Amino acid sequence: DFMNEIMGLSVLEKQIKDKLQVEHVIIVPGNSDDYEWVKQDMGKACAAFLKKIVQPNNTIAVTGGTTMASAADVMTVLNKENNYLFVPARGGIGEKVENQANTIASEMARKTNGDYRLLYVPDPLSESAYQTIINEPSINETLQQIKGANVVLHGIGDALTMAKRRKTAETTIAKLKTNKAVSEAFGYYFDKDGNVVHKVRTVGIQLEDLSTIDYVITIAGGKSKGQAITSYFKQGKSDLLITDEAAAEQILRGS
Ligand code: BG6
Repeated sequence: DFMNEIMGLSVLEKQIKDKLQVEHVIIVPGNSDDYEWVKQDMGKACAAFLKKIVQPNNTIAVTGGTTMASAADVMTVLNKENNYLFVPARGGIGEKVENQANTIASEMARKTNGDYRLLYVPDPLSESAYQTIINEPSINETLQQIKGANVVLHGIGDALTMAKRRKTAETTIAKLKTNKAVSEAFGYYFDKDGNVVHKVRTVGIQLEDLSTIDYVITIAGGKSKGQAITSYFKQGKSDLLITDEAAAEQILRGS
């Protein structure tokens, strides 16, 4: 609105930092629910931040989603001399190919002249398949690289939107509704207080691994995600939130 225009978005950034208790916040103008370029602007902010913080030979783990796909579109070379490894943060969680973490990791590697490793793991996994898969040497090697990631880039989704997009079973959707799931990230579903109410069983980064990662960067915007972002930040670790004006205003409006 008018105030944001004259003050710049820095006032809003400060308010979001206080509200969500996150160290760094970057807000881009607009509403990414309506315009694709707003997602790309969040992606550009992410690329600029990455350039400042990545160290030679860092491993960067990424999740899937349309927001991360836009970030990959606008990624540029981070630093010519240094080699970066991009990996998917977790096994596939039922996304279309263009929005899968594997695709995004390989695209980011291409754009930055980096390297990548992929994970071919179906999802959700049964307990027995899970145990077998994590002990498979080639998969185990990639999993070690993922667990050793220095930087994680991830999205946040609205819980029911994500559950439907993943063609989640009706019984699970009913469970999400009963438990009032609001947000989703990394295949975890959270209620408004940040409690995990459901988790998709897959390999890769687990919620508890985030505390040991140097930089967790969250990219999520759009008015429709305001509540979801607030919910994730009640529990999930993040060092930087990149969002848009519409989501930020919605976050401040919420209780
Ligand atoms: C998924 C991620 O691929 O994308 C989720 O695994 C995330 O954790 C979601 O919530 C966000 O999707 P989008 O399209 O809203 O950016």
